[in-house]
Amino acid sequence: MEKKISIAIDGPSGAGKSTIARRLAGELGYYYVDTGAIYRTVAYFFDLWGIAPKDLDGIRRYIDELTLGIEYDDQGVQHMLMNGMDVTEDIRTQDIAQKASLISAHAIVRDLLLDMQRSVARKHNVIMDGRDIGTVVLPKANVKIFLTASPEERARRRTAELQAKGQKAVYETVLQEIRQRDYQDTHRAVAPLKKAGDAVEVDTTGMDVEAVVAAIRKIVEEQTGKCV
Ligand code: DC
Repeated sequence: MEKKISIAIDGPSGAGKSTIARRLAGELGYYYVDTGAIYRTVAYFFDLWGIAPKDLDGIRRYIDELTLGIEYDDQGVQHMLMNGMDVTEDIRTQDIAQKASLISAHAIVRDLLLDMQRSVARKHNVIMDGRDIGTVVLPKANVKIFLTASPEERARRRTAELQAKGQKAVYETVLQEIRQRDYQDTHRAVAPLKKAGDAVEVDTTGMDVEAVVAAIRKIVEEQTGKCV
């Protein structure tokens, strides 16, 4: 099989990873893999079973009951399947995001998801976003980006995004949740969020989407020799 190209975009919540990755994937004709959605699906499953994200015994007991599926529709949109059920929309809440952050700290959960993420990258050219893509999942990715922005800016963007979807969102609460997730995601023992040594850091504070896309596109072109 021809060797595939992979682009890893890591960074904290709300840095704009998914917006940028989706745009570039569309322009390049690559698959966009949102790995946060996979962790959210795991969190959603255990939430339905009434098992707290920190309850490792409960997770061990029921993890075999979960069958995860990842599918792409004709528009290239990623869909998450939980035991055959499409939960793509159900997992997009702040509550599930917070639970995903906690549940993703368990090695048993991370191990379960590792092969799934790597197998998509083996089969397709991908832009994969997450927390540990450049460091753990695809350490040999062709391009690695570490996307950041100040917590305040990320909270502003996330609040607007949630409100646009008709969800109740208060800036101060969102900021607090973002800070908490930053702490959890960077302090866990297994595959914490951190910049890979060979990643290019892009701080998007004060930049609009177009400017960020242009900056990342330039890095991708320089590192792959491919015009986007
Ligand atoms: O990208 P997101 O906000 O949808 O991710 C939800 C949580 O999942 C995030 O707070 C930490 C976890 N996660 C992870 O540990 N590793 C990844 N590669 C992606 C997400």
